[in-house]
Amino acid sequence: MAENMLEVRDLLVDVGGKRILNKVNLDVASGESRVLFGPNGSGKTTLLMAILGIPGYEIAGGSIVFNGKDVTKWSIDERARHGIGFGFQQPPEVVGVKLGDMLKVCEGRKTSEHLSDEAAGLAERLDMASYLDRDVNVGFSVGERKRSEVLQLLLMKPRLMLLDEPDSGVDIDSLSLIGGVIQEYLKKKGASALIITHQGHILEHIKAGRACMLIKGSMYCYNKPGKVLEDIRKKGYEGCIKCHNQSLTSGKR
Ligand SMILES: Nc1ncnc2c1ncn2[C@@H]1O[C@H](COP(=O)(O)OP(=O)(O)OP(=O)(O)O)[C@@H](O)[C@H]1O
Ligand SMILES: [Mg+2]
Repeated sequence: MAENMLEVRDLLVDVGGKRILNKVNLDVASGESRVLFGPNGSGKTTLLMAILGIPGYEIAGGSIVFNGKDVTKWSIDERARHGIGFGFQQPPEVVGVKLGDMLKVCEGRKTSEHLSDEAAGLAERLDMASYLDRDVNVGFSVGERKRSEVLQLLLMKPRLMLLDEPDSGVDIDSLSLIGGVIQEYLKKKGASALIITHQGHILEHIKAGRACMLIKGSMYCYNKPGKVLEDIRKKGYEGCIKCHNQSLTSGKR
């Protein structure tokens, strides 16, 4: 296994012909959970979409190395097969596909087969057992969608979990369910995670070593999650940019 599960180097990403990410650099070590903060519209989701290889997120420069392999030009299918998994900020509805069947697909089983004990057990733990006969996310509340997303994602057994605001719109009990199963999975498998959060609530359950901050498409302030969050709360994002620029000019970095 590579020392770094993910290495993003000088990444430039365009969406709709507009430059959204500007020379972004980021590492996630093997077995590490790393946190990404940043204001609305700063490009956090764009970064995760580009790492997964979603069409429309055009890589205009730089590279993405996953588990020692340069995947910059790989398709989304290839990246997913090699172990990059995504938990969407707004998990989409899949009309006509039952959640139970989707879980079988996530596990690589045929829909005609029975649900595995593991999938059934995880559905139970995430309080989703009574949703298996419903179309994926159709009519689900925000918190139910997030639990359904985590359930699907964990059954795909990713080596790197890209989690886009797993704690947004989620109540305290659901947060504890989601955070608990993710942390258990990461520890058991030695998997890595890159987690976007605004308020840091998920960090009550998932142990993260380092954090960074994306502002207007550029990366700032690589530090411990608690310290980065404290700085954001104290100085605001504009204050963080000023602090960063001051430390650059005073040669402290
Ligand atoms: N097709 C598009 N054309 C132009 N701009 C786009 C397009 N898609 C996204 N953007 C812009 O890219 C920027 C980054 O969006 P992104 O979703 O990555 O932000 P974010 O940091 O995840 O924000 P949030 O915290 O609100 O989820 C936004 O300003 C958004 O409007
Ligand atoms: Mg976003």
